[in-house]
Amino acid sequence: YRRLRVALLGAGAVGSQVAALLLKHGDELADRAGAALDLVGISVRDLDARRDVDLPRELLTTDPEPLLVGADIVIELMGGIEPARTSILQAIGAGADIVTANKALLATHGPELFEAADQVGASIYYEAAAAGAIPIIRPLRDSLAGDRVQRIMGIVNGTTNYILDRMDREGSDFADVLADAQALGYAESDPTADVEGYDAAQKAAILASLAFHTAVPLSAVHREGITRIDADMMDAARKAGYVIKLLAVCERLADAEVSPSGESISVRVYPALVPREHPLASVHGANNAVFVQAEAAGDLMFYGAGAGGVQTASAVLGDVVSAARRHIAGGVGVGESTRANLPVVPIGHVVTRY
Ligand code: HSE
Repeated sequence: YRRLRVALLGAGAVGSQVAALLLKHGDELADRAGAALDLVGISVRDLDARRDVDLPRELLTTDPEPLLVGADIVIELMGGIEPARTSILQAIGAGADIVTANKALLATHGPELFEAADQVGASIYYEAAAAGAIPIIRPLRDSLAGDRVQRIMGIVNGTTNYILDRMDREGSDFADVLADAQALGYAESDPTADVEGYDAAQKAAILASLAFHTAVPLSAVHREGITRIDADMMDAARKAGYVIKLLAVCERLADAEVSPSGESISVRVYPALVPREHPLASVHGANNAVFVQAEAAGDLMFYGAGAGGVQTASAVLGDVVSAARRHIAGGVGVGESTRANLPVVPIGHVVTRY
């Protein structure tokens, strides 16, 4: 086998599981990738931090710089904008392909990163950036590339779904179940990102960009969180035959006034009343689901674990195998640049309240 050097930036809930699985199943993944995947180092903020899994001490470093030079594949799981952005640009400049789960970075600096990657023929893979373990990036980008997506309705934040589901089932208070979601490791380090809908809005921007083949900036996504939802509202919704879910809705609208093509798109995150009989109503716990309506395919639903370290690690490692296959094929074919930045339709804001 040819040997590929894999560097990992970040060993939090997802990163530590990625490292552990890569070390555990290295031989099998090498068979699938057609190349040995040598984990050459893991950059961390704190060498002594408590981790979900034990990692070989000799792989840990607090200095990412040497890892970025000479790596074939860089896995960025630090999260946040900086230093993730600079490290990714550096790694691209040094000839690496990138695997990242960084939805905040992609939703705000995606075009810059894809442009940098295109200039040197590198690829950025980000299956784990939306809906955790659920394969949704490739289906939207590749499998549905021949269709016209009309609408996406997604439960794309595990923390808020866990909270709303428990409030619905048990009549619990928001604050109590938030604490549980944090203890279970679903929440972002600052749970405001979850409960105020920022995390879902970032994922909505990514999904809409892919679905509609246009660059949807985070600033174009209407956002409302779930902090105002209380037990009385849940109760009223239940009695009327609905459940309250935080939805990310991305849709094409007929809009002759804003666009010569007669279409605009609307992307919005808000607590919505979902009829009990709708498939999205039966998404419980920290699970996610993405309901896609396409012109030819009709209705599709993608369902599974939307948060959690080991689950999300599955999506990351799938990307690593894809990146490795492409790398040894000389950078052609499979999984070429994942950019989605052709402006096609203007974005209209539609504010829909429950
Ligand atoms: N905090 C996120 C969630 C993790 O709850 O869905 C996955 O992005």
